[in-house]
Amino acid sequence: MRSIPVFFFVALTQFNVRTMSVQKEIKRITTHQLQAMKQRGEKISMLTAYDYSMAVILDGAGIDVLLVGDSASNVMAGHETTLPITLDQMIYHASSVVRGIKRAFVVVDMPFGSYQGNSSEALRSAIRIMKESGGHGIKMEGGAEIKDSIVRILSAGIPVMGHLGLTPQSIYKFGTYNVRAKEEAEANKLIEDALLLQEIGCFSLVLEKIPSTLAKRVAEELSIPVIGIGAGPHVDGQVLVTHDMLGITQEFNPRFLRRYAELSTIMTDAVTNYISDVKSRDFPTEQEAY
Ligand code: KIV
Repeated sequence: MRSIPVFFFVALTQFNVRTMSVQKEIKRITTHQLQAMKQRGEKISMLTAYDYSMAVILDGAGIDVLLVGDSASNVMAGHETTLPITLDQMIYHASSVVRGIKRAFVVVDMPFGSYQGNSSEALRSAIRIMKESGGHGIKMEGGAEIKDSIVRILSAGIPVMGHLGLTPQSIYKFGTYNVRAKEEAEANKLIEDALLLQEIGCFSLVLEKIPSTLAKRVAEELSIPVIGIGAGPHVDGQVLVTHDMLGITQEFNPRFLRRYAELSTIMTDAVTNYISDVKSRDFPTEQEAY
């Protein structure tokens, strides 16, 4: 039998390894892809994540954007508002999420107090988030009033997502979590702010809890993707707080929230069964022991 040259084996093995890795390669979502999705009319899916295990599940399911929202202050830490969460805590949550993803674009909320002071402080905070968490972009609440900070952050090459409408960091100014921009003056200011955010270079915009007709108008006027939460169906994508849409949180029931599971019930049943098995000595059995 003729012997096959060794180099042929080596070449074959390398080819296989390369082919396998090409097959496994997952294309990461970028700001350019999000832009292309808007252009071809493909809706963008976005959910919040605050920890590694949840990020693995959401990313594996194919979510486009993961938002490490400052809503972590509510759903993870139990605070009444988003105001108490710190920059260090946001970085901790974001770095855990980044370790869990292979495909999604990860946006990290700039927490209250980390960017409102001045543009140097804002840039410092944004750089810390990018360097220490590995996130891919940041989100900031507000329009013209934070323009200088956004411009400075963008000039450092950091992608910025805007957030207008109901901006929870201003809850004490608003006084309620009611729908925003129902009056003409506030709606006009929102449109002006949205155009400004696009003009200075934001790659995307979140609109929270505003009338559907206004959100539609903004999404049509802007060329950047507009993601809605409580902003109706005529925008370029949707975002929800994951703990709300999975039914882990119970007390939050706004009209815009659709629950896709009742995990609170499932988890309570599982834990009740576990407690009962431990008490009755049913768990563990000899088969579950060493
Ligand atoms: O913090 C958050 O979860 C958010 C979304 C509600 C958009 O900002």
